[in-house]
Amino acid sequence: MDFTLTEEQIMIRDAARDFAKTALLPGVIERDNKQEFPTEQVQQMGTLGFLGMMASPEFGGGGMNTLSYVLVMEELSKIDASASVIVSVNNSLVCWGLDTYGTQAQKEKYLTKLTTGASIGAFCLSEPEAGSDATSQKTTAIDMGDHYILNGTKNWITNGSTSDYYLVIAQTDKEKKHRGINAFIVEKGWKGFEIGPKEDKLGIRGSDTHSLIFNDVKVPKENRIGEDGFGFKFAMKTLAGGRIGIAAQALGIAAGAYELAKEYAKTRKAFGTEIMNHQAIAFKLADMHVQIEAARMLVYKAAMDKDNHQNYDLSGAMAKLAASQAAMDVTIEAVQIHGGNGFVKEYHVERLMRDAKITQIYEGTSEIQKIVISRSILKE
Ligand code: CAA
Repeated sequence: MDFTLTEEQIMIRDAARDFAKTALLPGVIERDNKQEFPTEQVQQMGTLGFLGMMASPEFGGGGMNTLSYVLVMEELSKIDASASVIVSVNNSLVCWGLDTYGTQAQKEKYLTKLTTGASIGAFCLSEPEAGSDATSQKTTAIDMGDHYILNGTKNWITNGSTSDYYLVIAQTDKEKKHRGINAFIVEKGWKGFEIGPKEDKLGIRGSDTHSLIFNDVKVPKENRIGEDGFGFKFAMKTLAGGRIGIAAQALGIAAGAYELAKEYAKTRKAFGTEIMNHQAIAFKLADMHVQIEAARMLVYKAAMDKDNHQNYDLSGAMAKLAASQAAMDVTIEAVQIHGGNGFVKEYHVERLMRDAKITQIYEGTSEIQKIVISRSILKE
């Protein structure tokens, strides 16, 4: 495959790199400590066009391809994975889902705000008892004619309190199992919609993660996405693309930690020489480099499959599985190379190590990716 970037892609990547260094890096440790949402930076990313990169220009989007989006995700994630998950959910799950499956009216009303950063969105599938087992939705939406009545609880929702619009998956007909599931656009502030307390997390602490409670919330019928019963497929299709964004996030976390470790190894001295001159360290860096390059190829390949209208369920799952493993392995080694300094916050690698873990959990655990991969290769 030809991974040569176009001039435009190089420009976008460099703009993201520059933004990450100048706007995300200062304050990233403090935001992580205080679990503070990067409000100002999200506004700036809206202005730069990072929040609706792949959406149609007609609705305020950038009309760019997935590879460009992946390049931006990688650069942002090298510095601040909390900021990049906000970008990922808004782009891959919310804007892409609406742009691809929404009605003209839904796009005019909601997408135009979500692509520009005037609002951000959340994707609400997970429940206390339905994280991996997504067909077992307990949240219900009862058809009342011109509206639905929504009841239930969603868990671990990224952008939980900062969103204005929520794509909520709910069971509308239990008998039909996954074919009786629908997706709805729900607005913040609607009667009966409550935002639960913020989760105190191991990593990506600058992003806000909440449970959401729906108590007899009235959702107009025009806010259903797609035909009746399309909700599960909507979620699966959307998540298949979302996994490419999270794979790029994992790749960025790994690459960020590797760059820090490499620089550290060039300057830190032990036993009379820079530690890079000890094979114990040089071999670690070699392993890290190989793992990152291998992950990068899988991530770019998945993005290109999507751009070339090929099936990307398999390549996206492979990319996420490999890149999230790389993120975990590389960040652990980056801390090790930093020694005692790796264990303190000012050197950044401990945060990247904490941030890496979620990439093996959200948008489908590594075990879910293996289900998707094995099913796909076994039916070939
Ligand atoms: N595209 C289109 N349709 C798909 C699909 C895809 N990628 N994957 C499955 N489907 C369809 C199947 O064709 C099937 O439809 P039919 O019966 O009509 O043929 C239907 O969906 C059910 O499929 P399965 O029988 O394969 O369903 P399953 O119960 O075995 O589950 C699963 C499959 C892959 C395990 C799925 O449940 C899954 O992906 N689980 C993980 C969910 C997840 O990623 N959660 C993360 C939450 S979101 C998040 O983390 C966001 C955030 O905040 C960062």
